[in-house]
Amino acid sequence: MTNGSLPRLTRAIYPGSFDPPTNGHLDVIERAARCFGELIVAVIVNPQKRDPMFSLEEREAMLSECVGHLPNVRVEHFRGLLADYVKLRESDVIVKGLRVVSDFENEMSTALMNRALAQVDTFFLMSDQKYSFVSSSIVKEVFFLGGEVDSLVPEPVLRVMAAKRTTLHSARR
Ligand code: PNS
Repeated sequence: MTNGSLPRLTRAIYPGSFDPPTNGHLDVIERAARCFGELIVAVIVNPQKRDPMFSLEEREAMLSECVGHLPNVRVEHFRGLLADYVKLRESDVIVKGLRVVSDFENEMSTALMNRALAQVDTFFLMSDQKYSFVSSSIVKEVFFLGGEVDSLVPEPVLRVMAAKRTTLHSARR
């Protein structure tokens, strides 16, 4: 509310690599979509940590299909500083999910830096307990070594992963 009167539309940004999106991500998106007027799921173009396994187009397409049922959510991408993108989109808040205490250690300095750079606050949602061990990297490792991840990623993601596994296997033959 503004000055205790009219409700105000809040635009939130949920940034990430989403390589690939998991059920943990989708859970945060669905819960954040209920808290904020508008939610932009922002896919970083080049994750700093590693070469992405899924192209930007694949990551955006998978996410768009996963959030199709949420009218106030849209998927975009950004490159460079998140703080600059937040300013560009005139976003009020950044949303992040926290799975375990070790996530907090990194996220705290990032949140403070983003506030210093863009005067933007970060809202943290605790991940659902059933997703506390789920990360994109563990999902990829298990899946591409033949393990089952059906309960850990949304169906559109599973389809793209299965197609990629087939492509990778044929390329190795
Ligand atoms: O899904 P991830 O890989 O944990 O997401 C990390 C992401 C994209 C949110 C983070 O790396 C990020 O914000 N990168 C943008 C570059 C930036 O602003 N760096 C300074 C952070 S204070």
